[in-house]
Amino acid sequence: MCDEWMPLIRLPLTKEQLRQLPRNGAYRYELIRGEVYLTPHPKHYHALLDLKEAAARAEVRPTEAAPVTLREVRPDDWADLAPVFAAAFRETQPFGSLDGATRRRAAEACLQRTRSGGDGPWIAPASFVAEEEGVAVGGLLVTLLPAGDPCAYDSYYWPVPPPPDCIERRLGRPHLTWVFVSPDQAGRGAGTTLLNAAVARLVGMGFEELVSTFLLGNESSTLWHWRNGFRLLEYPGSHRRRQRLASGS
Ligand SMILES: CC(C)(COP(=O)(O)OP(=O)(O)OC[C@H]1O[C@@H](n2cnc3c(N)ncnc32)[C@H](O)[C@@H]1OP(=O)(O)O)[C@@H](O)C(=O)NCCC(=O)NCCS
Repeated sequence: MCDEWMPLIRLPLTKEQLRQLPRNGAYRYELIRGEVYLTPHPKHYHALLDLKEAAARAEVRPTEAAPVTLREVRPDDWADLAPVFAAAFRETQPFGSLDGATRRRAAEACLQRTRSGGDGPWIAPASFVAEEEGVAVGGLLVTLLPAGDPCAYDSYYWPVPPPPDCIERRLGRPHLTWVFVSPDQAGRGAGTTLLNAAVARLVGMGFEELVSTFLLGNESSTLWHWRNGFRLLEYPGSHRRRQRLASGS
């Protein structure tokens, strides 16, 4: 989940300054021997979208004139998407604490991982680039995960490689692996337009649900998922869930 890109941060702050420091949910804050340590502590939550409901909603309430055009991802897009990805996450964890050059490397590595199947087989027909005047300003990439209980840890990786025709046979559940919009475009409907295109395409391919993942502390992503109809799933490590599973109910 790209946690490897979150640096450990050490700050020469007093106890009182630590108390005043604004917090981000993806980090743990501790005073150790006179130094403040911000330790990566990412908490991932999952959310589910009913694709038919989402498609019906998009028809009734289309995105208000997003100033972008969409198209499928072309092989030569990946290099252009990396700077857009890096800019979108410049203040957002898990990449927001990196310097510019490292964030760019992280963007390239994450996109390469998605493209090459490291996040599950890439569903190219349901992945889109948003353009403004021919320049990429956003992207949305969907991959295929196993079709098990979406509240369980092991539904988020393939224990053995799936068969090559797994997408055609719908042997899994689509996962919204990345959505990113250039900061100049943010909040103007591009992300929702990208999502609506993916939803329509996934419905056409016969899929019923889209699962997604967000990091605690990424408020804009959380709000965006909520705004677009995603339902928060039970946290895989939830005590209540474990107790319920243990009691068999
Ligand atoms: C999250 C993201 C993809 C949303 O795309 P977008 O084009 O900015 O969002 P849209 O214009 O389609 O949707 C706006 C809605 O999302 C929510 N939202 C998004 N960003 C918000 C912010 N900074 N503050 C408050 N609400 C926000 C609001 O509910 C808003 O609804 P409103 O217009 O009724 O207020 C984009 O902001 C982004 O690239 N963020 C950085 C990368 C990231 O975190 N990606 C998600 C994890 S992979």
